[in-house]
Amino acid sequence: MNKSWQLFESNLKIYLKNNYLKKTRAQADWIKQDTQYFSKGVIRLNELFTTQRTQRRFNYFDDPVLRSGYLAYFLPVNAYKVYHLLRTNHSHIHLKDKIRIVDLASGPLTMSFGFLLYLLDKGLAQNKTIQIEIMAFEQNKKILNDGIKLMKAFLFVLKGNSDLDIRVHITPCQTDLNRSIPERKPCDILFSGNFFNELSTREQQITAMDRFIRSFCHQDTLMVFIEPGTKKISRDLQELRDAFHAERTWRVLAPCVCHNSCPFNIVHKGDWCHHEIEWQTPSYIQDFDKAVGLKKQYLLYSYLMLTNRLVQKAAVVKKDVYVAVSHIMSMKDGYEFLGCGVDGLTRFQLFTNNISQNNHAFKKLRRGSVFKFQICSEKKDVKEGFLYQIKKTDCFRIL
Ligand SMILES: C[S@@+](CC[C@H](N)C(=O)[O-])C[C@H]1O[C@@H](n2cnc3c(N)ncnc32)[C@H](O)[C@@H]1O
Repeated sequence: MNKSWQLFESNLKIYLKNNYLKKTRAQADWIKQDTQYFSKGVIRLNELFTTQRTQRRFNYFDDPVLRSGYLAYFLPVNAYKVYHLLRTNHSHIHLKDKIRIVDLASGPLTMSFGFLLYLLDKGLAQNKTIQIEIMAFEQNKKILNDGIKLMKAFLFVLKGNSDLDIRVHITPCQTDLNRSIPERKPCDILFSGNFFNELSTREQQITAMDRFIRSFCHQDTLMVFIEPGTKKISRDLQELRDAFHAERTWRVLAPCVCHNSCPFNIVHKGDWCHHEIEWQTPSYIQDFDKAVGLKKQYLLYSYLMLTNRLVQKAAVVKKDVYVAVSHIMSMKDGYEFLGCGVDGLTRFQLFTNNISQNNHAFKKLRRGSVFKFQICSEKKDVKEGFLYQIKKTDCFRIL
């Protein structure tokens, strides 16, 4: 973890202790009992987010145990996901000295924290002043207040530890996004993190996305929708992608290189497009994992990055570029994996006796890795896309 992340973590621990623990414990360093204390909320939230979805109350963040569990564990984990996503899609992000962000269903400003940590990581705030305006839309006032206080404390600590000049102005908008959108200012980046899976039907999701785009987006707005990597919500995102793609108004920047319908909506319907980050789990998170029985060695998520198709340059056809949409699977005498490219899905097979210097990098593939592979001879057209058997001389490169 770099210095900014370390500051973020220490600031979070101090905030949790000062605001959610009895005064006697607040001053001391973070200890094992603190992890155990906040684990109660993490366990209950994990159940609510997975097996007991229907029992989730609208305002579950009114409960301090759930709220503090979210702050302690899900905030850093989800902020890391968006930080990673922005780093890997850096070429799509055009930053100005003044950036207006809309953070929808912001919770404790998770997406905005991820963005800030990305800015710090890129050194983009070096030698100049960056002004960030965050409009945070959230129906639960308590979690939003936590986020605002945490952000202010983090900026204060940052100022004391570096010569960066980042000025952040937060406009809190407590509102039910299913009903109305009071403020309608166009923004540069629109974030929606882990919100669409709180909407029960696809119709609600399509209506919400359409409303958000109309309310907050102008021709250059970058839209980032990130959700858990589970089957239902990932397939929902695939459907949303196709619904908006069909309108021909918005262009999908990532993760797709394919400009047609999502192949997973046509074939492989039991599968879903999602991505995996292998991260160096911080010991703070590892301690939680041990206490609650979760494992966060890999972070799973699904996402969409969209922009306005009309003003962007004509979509560049990324020939020979694929996104890995499966693990590497063992087969008799070799390996296989699925890649999604301009013409849809290709199943790549590599027999052990064809592994060579040219192609051995395939072993490093993860779900979501982007790779370049020039298919030199014929691909077979099979029922569920194409099939290609990799040869010794074929070159394989992870981008
Ligand atoms: C799982 S949390 C995600 C928070 C944050 N975006 C993140 O990624 O960590 C979902 C958030 O959506 C908020 N939310 C759910 N339905 C909402 C609605 N109709 N209007 C506004 N906020 C809503 C909840 O209060 C909660 O803070």
